[in-house]
Amino acid sequence: MSAPTLPRLEHVLAASQFDRDMVDALLERAARLEGVRDTALAGKIMASLFFEPSTRTRLSFESAMVRRGGAVIGAQDAAQTSSAAKGETLEDTVRVVAGYADLIVLRHPAEGAVRLAAAVSPVPVVNAGDGSGEHPTQALLDLYTIKRELGGLDGRRIVICGDLRYGRTVHSLAALASHYGMRFSLIANPGLEMPAEVVAALRARGCEVDESSNAGEAIRECDVLYQTRVQRERIKDGGGRPGVVVDAALMKLLPPHAIVMAPLPRVGEITPEVDNDPRAAYFRQAANGVTVRMALLEALLG
Ligand code: NCD
Repeated sequence: MSAPTLPRLEHVLAASQFDRDMVDALLERAARLEGVRDTALAGKIMASLFFEPSTRTRLSFESAMVRRGGAVIGAQDAAQTSSAAKGETLEDTVRVVAGYADLIVLRHPAEGAVRLAAAVSPVPVVNAGDGSGEHPTQALLDLYTIKRELGGLDGRRIVICGDLRYGRTVHSLAALASHYGMRFSLIANPGLEMPAEVVAALRARGCEVDESSNAGEAIRECDVLYQTRVQRERIKDGGGRPGVVVDAALMKLLPPHAIVMAPLPRVGEITPEVDNDPRAAYFRQAANGVTVRMALLEALLG
C-alpha cells in the first residue's frame, strides 16, 4: 500500500483542524523520517518566538528544522528580549518577524494569541502552546508515541491525570485521540477538571469518557497512563491539593503492556524511581517530538 499523501498545512493552530486521515498521514511520514537528515527544507528559515519558557518544544522544533536542512532564528524569553518589552503588540512583532522567516513557531501565555498572530501573518504560524488553550503539535507526538509503543491507536484505554483544566496538552490530545475511539478515564486533581466542552466533544464523537472513576481501578485496566503537572503559573491559589503521583507502588497496578507518558516537565508527579521501568515512556516520547516536527515542517514548508 502506498503512503498517504502528506497534507499541506497553512498554519497549525488547533487540534480541530486535523481529521483522522491527516493525522495518519503525518504519523506515517514521521515514521519514515526517524534518524533521517536531509535537505528537504534547505534555504528555508524558521523563527521561534517564545513568550513562555520551553525546553522540549523549542529545541525539538529547532532540531527538526536543522535535520531537514533548514535554518533557525529565534527569540526566547521574547517577553523580555523582543520589542514586546517596549510595548510592541504581538501582531506587529509577527508582521515584522514574517519578513525574516518562512515560518513562525509561537508560544504565548494568552489563549487565542496564536490565532491572532496567524490572522496577520503572511507566513505559516504554529501554535507551540497558547496559555491554557491548546498544544496541537504535542498531541501529534503523543499519538505517535502511543502508536510506536503499543502498535496502534484504535480503542486504546487512556487514563489522563493531573491538571486537566489549565494543562493545554491534554485538551489537544483528547481532541486528536477521539478520532481513534479511545476510551478515556479523566482523573483530575480537585478543582482542575477537564473543561466541559472538551468532554462534550469526546462524547459527541462516540468516545467513552469516565470522569468519576477511582484512579487505581482505571490504572489497572489502561493502556496509557498520561500524567500532567499542575500549571502553577496559571493558577492564583497555587493549584490546591495533590492528585495521583506515579511512583513504584502505583506502577504495580499498571498492566505489563501499558506505558506511562507525560508532556514534561515533571515536578514531583512522577518519582525518579519509575524512570528505569521499561513502561516509563516519557523520555522516548520527548525524543519523538523531533521526528513528528520534521514531518510537520514538511507539511508546512515543503
Ligand atoms: C507542556 C506545555 O508547555 O504545555 N510542555 C511541553 O510542551 N512539553 C506541559 C507543561 O508545561 O506542563
